[in-house]
Amino acid sequence: MNKIKLCIIFGGASSEHEVSCMSASSVIKNLDNERYELFSLGILKDGRQFLYTGDVEKIADASFCHDTEHLVPAIISPCPAHHGIMVLNKAEGTYKIQGIDCFFPVVHGENCEDGNLQGLLKLSGVAYVGSDNRGSAVSMDKAITKTILQTVNVPMANWRLFREDYSEADILWCEENLGYPMFVKPAGTGSSVGVSKARDREALVEALSKALKYDGKVLVEEYIEGAEVETAVLDVFENGKRVTLASIPGEIVPNSDFYDYETKYVNDTTSYYLPARLDKDTLEKIRGLAVEIFRALDCRGLSRVDFFAGKKGVIFNEINTLPGFTKISMYPKLMAEYGVAYGKLIDLLVDYAMEEHK
Ligand SMILES: Nc1ncnc2c1ncn2[C@@H]1O[C@H](COP(=O)(O)OP(=O)(O)O)[C@@H](O)[C@H]1O
Ligand SMILES: [Mg+2]
Repeated sequence: MNKIKLCIIFGGASSEHEVSCMSASSVIKNLDNERYELFSLGILKDGRQFLYTGDVEKIADASFCHDTEHLVPAIISPCPAHHGIMVLNKAEGTYKIQGIDCFFPVVHGENCEDGNLQGLLKLSGVAYVGSDNRGSAVSMDKAITKTILQTVNVPMANWRLFREDYSEADILWCEENLGYPMFVKPAGTGSSVGVSKARDREALVEALSKALKYDGKVLVEEYIEGAEVETAVLDVFENGKRVTLASIPGEIVPNSDFYDYETKYVNDTTSYYLPARLDKDTLEKIRGLAVEIFRALDCRGLSRVDFFAGKKGVIFNEINTLPGFTKISMYPKLMAEYGVAYGKLIDLLVDYAMEEHK
């Protein structure tokens, strides 16, 4: 049997470049060498693309970008006749085509998870893991996500959209309808970048100006008290039909004011519970909602869907179409707990992408 030519895409012109490198090195180390012929396509922070032929450890710590000896200028070709990558020989002004069977973008954040890269992958005519450009773009924008999910009555925190030109009436609406504390977050960031908890008007105005620096669209939300729970969603083909699975939800306890950037990446205070400490009915309800949300947003392949569970019941928070993918990230841990080990998970994702592409 011919090996599957699998191209792992990593890095990216994104604030989550380093996280991507860690995720990608994990994927590469766990690939079945009998099944795959590996190609590694690194995207630098300035957006340049290279085929990387060096040591995987230099992907893990993101130092591959300095390993010029092993960086071959290349671009994902938008031409379906190429069906892969154009490998450039700049000195001679020539290129050669490297055919690819499946792309696996192991990247996060802007330019990578927001539909831009997915549009290019769609044009390439090659199968690729994860949501397409539409599902990715819709899921990256928290305001659009919520607007769509409101139409199918998904429970969520009451919220209001703010832009640069907001007025005092908007603030008054929030004070009357949401009350303090409020959560303020840019529509399009991840990793809690630009997210604040505002306890009074002064803090709210400050939080708005901070969030507006990251995105011209900002959400102000009612504070939801409850456990933070996450579910891993995975598409598989069973007897030729698409089946969307949801893992048992897991729980994150930040042990800080909220799950902010410092808690996620700097201080190591977070505790995890697999499964989440909730009753069986609530766990099942979350699983059902996760699949419904994933489908309503036209997502595909995989996603992590995040909720709060407390006195107000189960409340949707956000969806991540390309969640962290190191062996200790929540998505693979939830799938492992569900019975799909890391290596098998990679195979299922590739199988699904290739089957659906047929
Ligand atoms: N409405 C809310 N009520 C309570 N906590 C919230 C709310 N919104 C966000 N948070 C807290 O802020 C964190 C980051 O917000 P989130 O919407 O998940 O953004 P990101 O995409 O950056 O992860 C959450 O994990 C949670 O701890
Ligand atoms: Mg989050």
